[in-house]
Amino acid sequence: MNETNQTYSFPSDFWWGSAASGPQTEGAAKEDGRKPSIWDYWYSKQPECFHGEVGPEHTSNFYHMYKEDIQLMKKTGHNSFRTSIQWSRLIPDGKGTINEKAVQFYNDVINELIANDIEPIMNLYHFDMPMCMQEKGGWESREVVDAYVEYAKTCFELFGDRVKYWFTFNEPIVPVEASYLYNLHYPHIVDFKRGAQVAHNTIVAHAKAVAVYKKLNLNGRIGIILNLTPSYPRSKKEEDVQAAHIADLFFNRSFLDPVTKGVYPAGLIEILKERNLLPAVEEGDLEIIQSNPIDLLGVNYYQPRRVKAKEEQVPPEKPFMPEHLFDPYIKPDRKINPHRGWEICEEVIYDIMINIRDHYDNIPFFISENGMGVEGEEKFRNHEGYIEDDYRIEFIQEHLKWVHKGLQEGANCLGYHLWTFMDNWSWANAYKNRYGLVEVDLNRDFKRTIKKSGQWYKALTDNHGFTI
Ligand code: NOJ
Repeated sequence: MNETNQTYSFPSDFWWGSAASGPQTEGAAKEDGRKPSIWDYWYSKQPECFHGEVGPEHTSNFYHMYKEDIQLMKKTGHNSFRTSIQWSRLIPDGKGTINEKAVQFYNDVINELIANDIEPIMNLYHFDMPMCMQEKGGWESREVVDAYVEYAKTCFELFGDRVKYWFTFNEPIVPVEASYLYNLHYPHIVDFKRGAQVAHNTIVAHAKAVAVYKKLNLNGRIGIILNLTPSYPRSKKEEDVQAAHIADLFFNRSFLDPVTKGVYPAGLIEILKERNLLPAVEEGDLEIIQSNPIDLLGVNYYQPRRVKAKEEQVPPEKPFMPEHLFDPYIKPDRKINPHRGWEICEEVIYDIMINIRDHYDNIPFFISENGMGVEGEEKFRNHEGYIEDDYRIEFIQEHLKWVHKGLQEGANCLGYHLWTFMDNWSWANAYKNRYGLVEVDLNRDFKRTIKKSGQWYKALTDNHGFTI
């Protein structure tokens, strides 16, 4: 150790672990009574949208290998793990009959995690609308909202005696953006007003699920996981600052404010009202949102959003998009992940922590996702047969330095979860970009091998920190 070494120590009860989701890891999509979600449906129609590689049917085979995987979680230093229950597995018809095989599976996973001293953290919805519910209108339909609340209640009743941390949704803005604005996910609608309805209905579904959970008195905490993309203006000029403020209203505060403060930001309402884009709000919606703030927030952080004032005005007759109000700005000296084109800016994680401390009542939260997807990791395999992903170690370390600073300055951060535990299936590119601490070899019966980052993560969590 030389004089410049510094030790970053974290609280002894800090959550260390990783996040995953049912649809991206379980596989067994056609087994034991599970019915299709929109992903199975879309893959059957357009497999080329997933780089032709692997569909959502098998993913990483967690359904059959969860015991081995939980041992690997131990070996990679997990004291907590987040995954999601698949609605289309638990209640294959969206509402009504509960699939006993699914109950068995989720019970087994939860019990196995607990037996291995790994805190199970469960999320209820990770972009995976059951196809039968999408046919009823998906999040545009109040019938689907009600079915979701029933599904949530079923999960709490079945597993809430052992699962103490619940999340209603992962990144609920993604289905709004990807399915209703940018033509990326099924049902591929491009219509802002319908997207706004989806957002509002999702927030109502969330608040109703929180209310149900509270009523059951299960002695745990409930929240939501949001992907926050802090907005930074190109300059201090008023028009740039205003552009960043607007982007923040649309992409962060649209969900963050109602779930924490119980109200939509006034500035956002104003913008939508002026353009006649407000969603339909039913009687009682605003009250239920107001009376059910979350206990715990999950923050997924990958990259900031940089914007500047709009250079060319968009003619008013063009169908509205948030991007009509600001332009993207590319910071000249930015660091990027070449495999995804995403900017890597570590200190933004600290800004998020301070923002929550100062503007959101310092509510408890944890970093529920942060990570790096890399293409072609095979070339980093060493002579001992495992992948030397030093870039991932550095990525985590550099972010953790800022998490450490945020903690020292009083942010109420309970833990750090990496995306993700093992290489898993991604929505647009299947297994092209690898994110895991553990490699999954699709050509060798899903063989798992811990990467160098997995070994490093174990040391990190054993030592409650690192020295660099
Ligand atoms: C966010 C999502 O929660 C997850 O499903 C996705 O695969 C990762 N980020 C990586 O892009």
